[in-house]
Amino acid sequence: MAYYLIAGASGYVGSQLAERLLARGHRVRGLVRNPDSPTVERLAARGMCVWIGDVTRAETLSGVADGVDYVYNLTSRLAIENGSVRRTYVDGNQNLIAACSRARSVRAYVFSSSVAPYGDAGDALVSEDHPVAPSFPLGEVLAEAERTIMGAARDHRFPAIILRVAAIYGPGRDPVEAVESGMATIYGDGRNYVSHIHIADLVDVLERVAVDGQPGAIYNVGDDEPLRQIELLSEVRQRLGMVPPRTFSPAAALAAGLDPTVIGTLSASVRLDNRRLKHDLALTLRYPSIRAWLDERLPVDEVIALGA
Ligand SMILES: NC(=O)c1ccc[n+]([C@@H]2O[C@H](COP(=O)([O-])OP(=O)(O)OC[C@H]3O[C@@H](n4cnc5c(N)ncnc54)[C@H](OP(=O)(O)O)[C@@H]3O)[C@@H](O)[C@H]2O)c1
Repeated sequence: MAYYLIAGASGYVGSQLAERLLARGHRVRGLVRNPDSPTVERLAARGMCVWIGDVTRAETLSGVADGVDYVYNLTSRLAIENGSVRRTYVDGNQNLIAACSRARSVRAYVFSSSVAPYGDAGDALVSEDHPVAPSFPLGEVLAEAERTIMGAARDHRFPAIILRVAAIYGPGRDPVEAVESGMATIYGDGRNYVSHIHIADLVDVLERVAVDGQPGAIYNVGDDEPLRQIELLSEVRQRLGMVPPRTFSPAAALAAGLDPTVIGTLSASVRLDNRRLKHDLALTLRYPSIRAWLDERLPVDEVIALGA
């Protein structure tokens, strides 16, 4: 039995990781800002110890990692507003790393970054050694956060691991529902590659990487088959009996005031190479392609029946 700290335990990923670790019989401390959220109350009822804190406020982290073996920073910020994204990712990692260093018990620190630091890599297969070239604000902030973390790993042998996580999907983050509700929008011609990871596979990776990952390493976390955005959305729409997707101009969307990070995230192409992760963790993905999930979610038999 080990002792885990999860920053962002109330979030989509953090709460599912906490459930998994508690079910395995581990001790889990959840760093949360709001202990009264239904998710936190549910996890507390299952045995999670709640630590009320904010990664951007160092004074709330004193002692947070004491006695802890493994730490996950799964905090997230969506919109670029008033510097809160930078504070969360850059200051937040700095503050949490300082608390972990003081604790002296931490064997691994795992931060979930995203593919945003790669920017727009076109059709190239993107390994972890691919140049970091952010092309929108979130990528710049995450690249800075990664440099801070790697600096601690290099200069102080801090046992940090960075995950560059692809688009997460699964129950509650359902691409079919996104299409049905009109939320799935293509900016550009849609030929950009999007890499995906199912939440169940991501939780497997998180659980394994803290123990078996190489300290100081960066891992791409995506499935085996990145798809062009238009390919996936066309496939979903076809299965739903809908007409092919429309495409929108990124320049026009930016001129209309849409957030550059939203446009950048949706239009950049990152064809993620996951070989390092699979090699180091000897990992078998439950959903090696989002197509395998789609076959379960919208079986072709059902689609034929719907169309009949
Ligand atoms: N979603 C994706 O497709 C995707 C793709 C690639 C990478 N990622 C990364 O995966 C991680 C988890 O994402 P998610 O989808 O689970 O995010 P999420 O559901 O939005 O959860 C984010 C969590 O961070 C917490 N948080 C935010 N600011 C905080 C602060 N200052 N101090 C303490 N906690 C704070 C939130 O707490 P409150 O409940 O108090 O707000 C929430 O629990 C993030 O690092 C994200 O960047 C996500």
